[in-house]
Amino acid sequence: MQTDPDLQGQPPVALSLAHAAKTFGPVVALADGTIEIREGEIHALMGENGAGKSTLVKILAGLHQPDSGDFRIAGEPVSFRNVAESKAAGVSVIYQEPTLFPDLTVAENIFVGRQPKGRLGLISQGEMRRQAAALFGQLGVAIDPGRVAEGLSIADQQIIEIAKAISLDAKVLIMDEPTAALSGVEVDRLFAVARGLRDQGTGIMFISHRFEEVFALCDRITVMRDGKYVSTHVTEDVSVDRIVREMVGRDIAELFPKEAAEIGAPVLSVRGLSRAGVFRDINLEVRAGEIVALAGLVGAGRTEVARAVFGIDPYDSGEVLFGGKPLKGGSPQAAIAAGMGFVPEDRRKQGLVMDLSVARNVTLTLRKRFARAGLINGRAELRAAEEWSRRLQVKAGSPEHAVSTLSGGNQQKVVLAKWLATEPRFLIIDEPTRGIDVGTKSEVHRLISDLAGRGIAILMISSELPEVLGMADRVLVMREGRISAELSREEASPESVMHAATVAAATN
Ligand SMILES: Nc1ncnc2c1ncn2[C@@H]1O[C@H](COP(=O)(O)OP(=O)(O)OP(=O)(O)O)[C@@H](O)[C@H]1O
Ligand SMILES: [Mg+2]
Repeated sequence: MQTDPDLQGQPPVALSLAHAAKTFGPVVALADGTIEIREGEIHALMGENGAGKSTLVKILAGLHQPDSGDFRIAGEPVSFRNVAESKAAGVSVIYQEPTLFPDLTVAENIFVGRQPKGRLGLISQGEMRRQAAALFGQLGVAIDPGRVAEGLSIADQQIIEIAKAISLDAKVLIMDEPTAALSGVEVDRLFAVARGLRDQGTGIMFISHRFEEVFALCDRITVMRDGKYVSTHVTEDVSVDRIVREMVGRDIAELFPKEAAEIGAPVLSVRGLSRAGVFRDINLEVRAGEIVALAGLVGAGRTEVARAVFGIDPYDSGEVLFGGKPLKGGSPQAAIAAGMGFVPEDRRKQGLVMDLSVARNVTLTLRKRFARAGLINGRAELRAAEEWSRRLQVKAGSPEHAVSTLSGGNQQKVVLAKWLATEPRFLIIDEPTRGIDVGTKSEVHRLISDLAGRGIAILMISSELPEVLGMADRVLVMREGRISAELSREEASPESVMHAATVAAATN
C-alpha cells in the first residue's frame, strides 16, 4: 500500500493513476493523467473539451494501454490489456450512451455471458430475473427485468449498466458524461443511485460539464487542462470560479449576454402545425435577427416540432411558411435549399459522418449546396471549413483527421461549424451548448448572438434556463405537445418559464 500522511483517517484508495501518458501518432491525448479515487467517495473529473478526460477513463477501463504511468488498484500495480481484465479487477465504466443488446431482456443483458445455471446446467430465466430484481431493489429503482431492452430510455439503460457493474462486484464505478442526455428527474434518480453506492463503499468517478451537478454530487474534484493534471479539491472548500480558472487558465464569464439586434420581417411562420400524439396546434413565428427559445421539459415535444418544421418528420395538418412562401413538408432538401439549417440535439448520431475528416464534415452541407448551384470551389470550401473550425476552437490534430478521433465536445463543435458555414437565413439549434465546456460555451453564445446580429432568424431549443433567459428575445414554452406560454424577454424568468413548463393551463 502507498502510505500518504494526508490520508490518515481517510478511507483507503480504491484506484490511483499517476502521470499516465497516451499519444496517438503525433497527438498527445494525455500527458499527465493523475487521479485517485477513494472507497466511498464521488470524485469529479473536470476539464475543457479535449482535456483528456475520456482518454484517462479509457485507460482505467482497459480500452487504451498507457504509454507510461503508474496505475494501481487497492495499492497494487496493474496493467490491463483489455476491458475484461479491468472489469475483473473491479472497474466498471458507464458511458453516455450504453449499448445493450436490444433483443435480449433486461435480465439477460445484466448476466450476458455468465447466466446463472439451473438444475441440469440450463440457464434459468427465473433465477436471472430474480437476481436482476434484487439488484434493482438494492438501487431503489423500478425496471421490469423481463422486458426486452429495445425501446428503453438512455437513463434506464445506464441504470441497467450500473446493476450489471454491481453484479460484477465493481469497486470503482466510472461515469463519463452520464447526464448529458437525461431529463431532470432522470438525473435525480441517477444521483440517488450513485449516493447509495457511495454509502456502501463504492468509489465513483463522475464526469460532467455542468457545475451544478458536480457541486451537488461530488465529494472531491480533480481538474485537468491540456492533457495534464492541475489540482484536486475538496468540493466544500472550493468555488466554481476557482475551478473554471483552473480549467481554462483564465477568467471567463459563463454566459455571454445577447446583444441587441435589429428585428426584421418574419422569416419562419408556423401555423396550426399538428402531428397526432406528438404535438398539437403549434403556432410560432421567428423574425430576421430574432432569437426565439423553445423551452420546456425533456419530452415536451420541442425537438419533434423542430424536426417537422425542417422536414425530417411529417406532420398531419397546418403549414410552414418560409419567407412568406409555403415550404414543402417532409423534405429537408427543400428546407436546406430555402436557407434553413438544423443543428440536431444528438450530434454524434445525426450530425456527423464519423469516418470522414473534420474538414469534409464541415463542408458536407456546403458541398451539396454548391453542387446544386452548379459551382464547387474546393479552395473556398476548405477556407470556410477552416474559418469556422477556428472560430469555434475545434481542437483536432489536423482538419484531415477523422472526426471519430475528436473528443465528444469537439465533435459537437464540428456539427455547429458545419451548419454555420452554410450561412443560413434561419437556423434551428437544438441544445446549442450540451456537452460543450464552460470556455467554449460563452464563445458559442457570442456566435449565436453574432448570427442574429447579421439578420439570421434563430430558433433555439434549450433545457438550460440561464441560456434561455440570457439569449432569447422571446420564449415559447412547450408542455405535453403544446405551446403553453409565450413570454417576452422581460416576462421570462426562472419562475415564469418553469411554471409554464410544468403546470397545466386552466384550459387543458
Ligand atoms: N483515438 C484517437 N486518435 C487521435 N486523437 C485522439 C484519439 N482519442 C482522443 N484523441 C485526442 O485526444 C484529446 C483528448 O480527448 P478526450 O476525448 O480525452 O477529451 P475529453 O476531455 O474527454 O473532452 P470532452 O469534454 O470533449 O469529451 C483530443 O484532442 C482528442 O482529439
Ligand atoms: Mg469526453
